[in-house]
Amino acid sequence: PLLRPAADDGGRPLVVGHRGNSSVAPQNTLAAFEAAWRAGADAIELDVRLTADRQVVVLHDDVVDETTDGSGRVDGLTLAEVRALDAGSWFSRAFAGQRVPTFAEVARFASDRPGLGLLVELKGVWTVEDAVLVTKQVDDAGLADRVLVQSFWPPTVAALRDAAGHLDRALLLALHPDSLAELVGVCADLGVVACNPEVALLAHEPGLVETLHDAGLRVHVWTANTSDEWDDLLVRRVDGIMTDRPDHLAGWLDAR
Ligand code: G3P
Ligand code: CA
Repeated sequence: PLLRPAADDGGRPLVVGHRGNSSVAPQNTLAAFEAAWRAGADAIELDVRLTADRQVVVLHDDVVDETTDGSGRVDGLTLAEVRALDAGSWFSRAFAGQRVPTFAEVARFASDRPGLGLLVELKGVWTVEDAVLVTKQVDDAGLADRVLVQSFWPPTVAALRDAAGHLDRALLLALHPDSLAELVGVCADLGVVACNPEVALLAHEPGLVETLHDAGLRVHVWTANTSDEWDDLLVRRVDGIMTDRPDHLAGWLDAR
């Protein structure tokens, strides 16, 4: 599989473009995904949400205000309304006319780039019925062997398991876990292949990566943008690094 443990590649972690190459192009747009691909990223990370008419779109926030010229909640707008928005001008005039991608567009984009992996984050709480709207498109596009579907919410990860047990899934971790044993137990119940913590958690929980590895889990850390952080993550033998600078990280790893 494309999304392999670092140990299978001499300890080199996956370079994951967080929301694409979101330093050089507007986050979660096809322009940002193309920039990550051209930078040599192994995979792109993206966020998905449902519109009012239950279409899957790629956008981080629960509202469109920060990353488009519109306003309001994503789940309060129809696909046609979301697609009418400009998702590039807020970043720079050079990206005027970029649209909020549908997940179908991103799936086609990835199908056309056979070396590219996808980390698909389902934002918020999803039912099995809704999760199928994502997983069916993954399957239809032939991407099942290069996707990791993930969420912060155990009920959403469980919905992904029940919607499409054959797809690799991950639990995202933003908070300091009360107990590592309990965390490993939750991961086992959810049948995840990876647990993906916020980079700051590693300093507070020195045994986190090792404990997860010992439990047979991979670890993709987010969001690490500096070489000091990357140095530390290599020592900790993480399997992937989500970064807003996949161009810099790929070059930094190549130079080592
Ligand atoms: O995929 C992990 C990371 O993207 C989670 O944080 O807020 O950037 O979606 P956020
Ligand atoms: Ca995300």
